[in-house]
Amino acid sequence: MSDDKKQRAAAAALAHVRPGMTLGLGTGSTAAHFVKLLGDQGFEGQAIPTSEETARLAEAVGISLITPDETTRIDLAVDGADEADPSGALIKGGGGALLREKIIAQQAQTFIVIADDGKDVVQLGQFPLPVEVTGFAVGLTIQAIRSTLAALGYEDPSLTLRRGEGGFFQTDGGHLIVDIALGRIDEAEPLDAALTMIPGVVTTGLFVGLTDLMIFGTESGVREAVP
Ligand code: A5P
Repeated sequence: MSDDKKQRAAAAALAHVRPGMTLGLGTGSTAAHFVKLLGDQGFEGQAIPTSEETARLAEAVGISLITPDETTRIDLAVDGADEADPSGALIKGGGGALLREKIIAQQAQTFIVIADDGKDVVQLGQFPLPVEVTGFAVGLTIQAIRSTLAALGYEDPSLTLRRGEGGFFQTDGGHLIVDIALGRIDEAEPLDAALTMIPGVVTTGLFVGLTDLMIFGTESGVREAVP
């Protein structure tokens, strides 16, 4: 079962945790396994959550949380992913926490991805790419995203403004998410750069060059891959 695989990946990541560390805690069902296991083992350190949801869970299991400042060194961040390719490039943001996740992954000394092996893909793009956008002039931003994609050779992809309970989904930062069905992403880095250049785009769910280790939960154990 996929949930058992997620738990196995989360449990394997615990081996990288040392007392006194400052951790970045990801968001989503796999990261939630990691947070619970960390609480169970009585983690002696501090953590920065990447969402309000993770903050609530971490507090409930007794993990001490901090708000980072310019002196904060994040020793290790552990997070899930929606897709991961062999180079360690990821699609994230299925849970809507991509901005805080990306800030923490980028600043962490070590970033470990934990996922069930269904997320282990040869090529990114089957999972719709989440792009966080401002609510202001969202229609114009969507138009700009379409033009940018067309210039990069993505023919007429479908863009959907994500819905949540009672309206459009809002991120913890109060932004909206556009999910883009691309089918396949040939080069993640230039796509990320081009989309991020659009003023109304806050960030994209493409995480490129950030991953240090991937731990995939399998039927019988885990498979680890270094990009
Ligand atoms: C949260 O915004 C996402 O980036 C998650 O890390 C991703 O959606 C994976 O979630 P699961 O662990 O629930 O599959």
